[in-house]
Amino acid sequence: MQSVKIVEVGPRDGLQNEKQSLDAAVKLELIRRLAASGLSTIEAGAFVSPKWVPQMANSAAVLTGLDLAGPLSYPVLVPNDQGLDAALAAGVREIAVFGAASESFSQKNINASIAESLQRFDSVCRRALDAGIRVRGYVSCVVGCPYEGRIAPRKVAEVARALADLGCYEISLGDTIGVGTPAAVREMLDAVLDALPAERLAGHFHDTYGMAIANIRAALDVGLRVFDASVAGLGGCPYARGASGNVATEDVAYLLAGEGYHTGIDLTTLVDAAWYIADALGKAPASKLAHALGRQG
Ligand code: HMG
Ligand code: MG
Repeated sequence: MQSVKIVEVGPRDGLQNEKQSLDAAVKLELIRRLAASGLSTIEAGAFVSPKWVPQMANSAAVLTGLDLAGPLSYPVLVPNDQGLDAALAAGVREIAVFGAASESFSQKNINASIAESLQRFDSVCRRALDAGIRVRGYVSCVVGCPYEGRIAPRKVAEVARALADLGCYEISLGDTIGVGTPAAVREMLDAVLDALPAERLAGHFHDTYGMAIANIRAALDVGLRVFDASVAGLGGCPYARGASGNVATEDVAYLLAGEGYHTGIDLTTLVDAAWYIADALGKAPASKLAHALGRQG
């Protein structure tokens, strides 16, 4: 049986876009439940400016409650050297730098052009790798941009290659505003696969138009075996108007189980985590599976 890895991004990508900031204790309980479901990589926070994203301001406090030396991986977002200093002080073992294939989105999201961002990441990656920290790379707007519309697949390949050259072990390709459909995703992946092998790539699909599951199926067809997802379908992006949540982890886990892939995830425990965080936020889970199975426990 082939394995597919799900990278859980709910505590970061999900919660960064909720109006209310949750206490570290609630985030830790969510992460505990996600780990109990079998997820082995859980993005736990972001060392970004608290003025830009206040919801992530307690990331260091969240990390103090995690076993960072244990078998699970708890990566955090790092945009610059200042973020890396904070991440190192918190004892992280993995970080993610995040760039974009769209100039306008890069400016709005991290206040830098693509070229400037790659310069920042050069320093961040060198220092992190020297300290024995793994670095993952994100490319946002791989299909479309809220400010520029359609993005050329060639541009996505260029930025993905640049991040890989800086030492990122894996490049997560983000359909930030969820505008992709399988044909567009295939066209983008064909271009990126000319630059990097499938083993270096991950899919990160937001579900704004309900296409994320179809897009994951399309990406599986060309060999991708890592997908980011957010429990209960939480998420979006504060700098991408109209972006709704990431595809829900429980819907992805259901798809993969049905298609015969091993994920190591227990659906019942995962749905329990989805209801837990939805209740904490006072809303219903966005996934189909949480409603189909109902409340657990
Ligand atoms: P800037 O304003 O250009 O930074 O922001 P600056 O270097 O000019 O510093 C200005 C102030 O920010 C200073 O504080 C710095 O200390 C502080 P002041 O003197 O004014 O009090 N600062 C920081 N504070 C904490 N941590 C830091 C840091 N750096 C500077 N690391 C910056 C540049 C990158 C910091 C800012 O634009 C930022 O934080 N952006 C983050 C935006 C963000 O988190 N977006 C969401 C994540 S990306 C995403 O969701 C997409 C993804 O899911 C994939 C997809 O879906 O496509 C990954
Ligand atoms: Mg995202």
